[in-house]
Amino acid sequence: MTTTGEIRWGIIGTANIARGQFLPGLREAGGGRAAMVAGRELDRAQAWAAEHGVDRGVAGYDAVTDSPDIDAVYVAVPNSLHAEWTVRALRAGKAVLSEKPLCVGAAQTAEVLDAASGIDGALLWEAFVFPFQAQHRRLTALLDDGAIGQPAELVSVFHFHPTRPGDIRFSAALGGGCLADVGCYPIRLAHELFGAADDELATGSAVTNGVVEVDAAGLVPYGTRRLLLSCGFQRSYDTFTQVLGSEGQLYLTNPFHPGPADTLTLHRPRQEPVTEHPTTDAHSFTAALRHIHAVLGGEAGPEHLASDSALATARTLEAVKAACGL
Ligand SMILES: NC(=O)c1ccc[n+]([C@@H]2O[C@H](COP(=O)([O-])OP(=O)(O)OC[C@H]3O[C@@H](n4cnc5c(N)ncnc54)[C@H](OP(=O)(O)O)[C@@H]3O)[C@@H](O)[C@H]2O)c1
Repeated sequence: MTTTGEIRWGIIGTANIARGQFLPGLREAGGGRAAMVAGRELDRAQAWAAEHGVDRGVAGYDAVTDSPDIDAVYVAVPNSLHAEWTVRALRAGKAVLSEKPLCVGAAQTAEVLDAASGIDGALLWEAFVFPFQAQHRRLTALLDDGAIGQPAELVSVFHFHPTRPGDIRFSAALGGGCLADVGCYPIRLAHELFGAADDELATGSAVTNGVVEVDAAGLVPYGTRRLLLSCGFQRSYDTFTQVLGSEGQLYLTNPFHPGPADTLTLHRPRQEPVTEHPTTDAHSFTAALRHIHAVLGGEAGPEHLASDSALATARTLEAVKAACGL
């Protein structure tokens, strides 16, 4: 699929993430425009479009997937709806950026990836945007250069307080719970850094509110390495992450949605810490959208497609959930 001119995006769902992250990233990336947003209600979609600089608001998500005027679709609905709208958009010949986690559970993820692999030229990204960012490239370069010797352990947290009434994160039917919502980030990062997890050896514990888990911790082995993750909806926002190795450690204030103020610090025994600010983009989604535009414009080959990582992440997520007794 090669597109000349601006990439015309269609957004599925008048979502908070589309307003707060996707649209600012799209503006910063350049090369694309928000051509359409679909909501369940026309009035809401039109008002949202007018307020956030989208060309048109339309009723019904199929208005986006079926439109000949759309090149790429951003699926920003609750987790339980990602699979259906991702597949419908792919079958309509659109490139798709689907929110994380791509699906609810490993079986559904496998089904969606299977459907994608059956579509000639399908381009599907799961919206883990950090692997595209300058900070992540710097992290992997430091690890490849042996800055901390042999990496052995990843300690990674993602906590925040959802405060909106009726937040989708507290609905089991919509695929909520803190492991799916934010625990998936450390798991995805561990997959990037350590490869295949020993899912059958995962352990964990969780606290529930009677509907979904609201706090959880897990330990996942990756051969001789391991991930220690902690996530939840009950603590103030924090995503600090450490990669600990045989000769030092790297500490990131925010590996997943860094801004220019976030830091990556190298600690080595008996040496002064070295702190960098590797993030150049103001918005977290910018690098991923720049990449997608380059791919659709025929200027780059696709990287970090969902096919490489989504199933592994979903399986590990499921293993941690099972270990937590969920
Ligand atoms: N990648 C990231 O950094 C990141 C960050 C936050 C969230 N996310 C993901 O983005 C997705 C949306 O999260 P969000 O926080 O933006 O959610 P949100 O603000 O609640 O938006 C979800 C949208 O989905 C639509 N929707 C369809 N069925 C719905 C239902 N039964 N209940 C509620 N909404 C429904 C609604 O739009 P209409 O009414 O217009 O149809 C709603 O605006 C989730 O998958 C989440 O995991 C990703």
